[in-house]
Amino acid sequence: MKHRPGSNKAAEKSLVILISGRGSNMRALLEADLPCRVAAVISNKADAPGLEVARQHGIATRVVAHRDYPDRESFDAALAATIDACQPDIVALAGFMRILTPRFVEHYHGRLVNIHPSLLPAYGGLDTHARAIKDGVKIHGCTVHFVTADLDHGPIIIQAAVPVLWRDTPATLAERVLRQEHRIYPQAVRWLCMDSLVLDGEGKVYLNRVEQPGFALVAPALE
Ligand code: GAR
Repeated sequence: MKHRPGSNKAAEKSLVILISGRGSNMRALLEADLPCRVAAVISNKADAPGLEVARQHGIATRVVAHRDYPDRESFDAALAATIDACQPDIVALAGFMRILTPRFVEHYHGRLVNIHPSLLPAYGGLDTHARAIKDGVKIHGCTVHFVTADLDHGPIIIQAAVPVLWRDTPATLAERVLRQEHRIYPQAVRWLCMDSLVLDGEGKVYLNRVEQPGFALVAPALE
């Protein structure tokens, strides 16, 4: 875990993580030894199991319950006030299951990221694994992207692909994808912490380094 309460290194960035549920991606971020300070974990649900996990890691938690607000605008305003009190450089949605208003998203332009359980732009929305199996796709996966007002779209930072196997159920496929989510989300946040990403004028993201090794996932495998 790389939670450094009280650290005041000038260059160290600050991270806020938003959750709604079990928080396994949040846990992956907390345990990834990231070069940042985790200022808080915020949930829109008081009973999100991930809150206890955060506390066990010594992270401050907050609840901004969407049910306490009459509309999206007022909820998002309260959420933004709670986030901004932590002065984060990066805000990571980790299974945060609320649609955010354009105003909120714009406020965090370039520093709000999300993980989604599909190879976007395919299968935005819910039930991604069941829909992928129904369509018979052979490769599925997960995506970390900058958040824009367009739900489950936005500049893609990193993706991981997994094979869809003949006997897969939504649960077995979800498990395979989730293992990759726990690898790519810390990587994406690490790049953000290190200012390693370039978001160009066309909304595409590049690593500000040279070549990447290329390889192919072929599924089913060639014989
Ligand atoms: C993860 O699979 C994440 O990709 C997904 O919710 C799950 C949360 O699990 N997010 C979305 O579907 C967002 N559109 P977790 O609470 O264990 O991280």
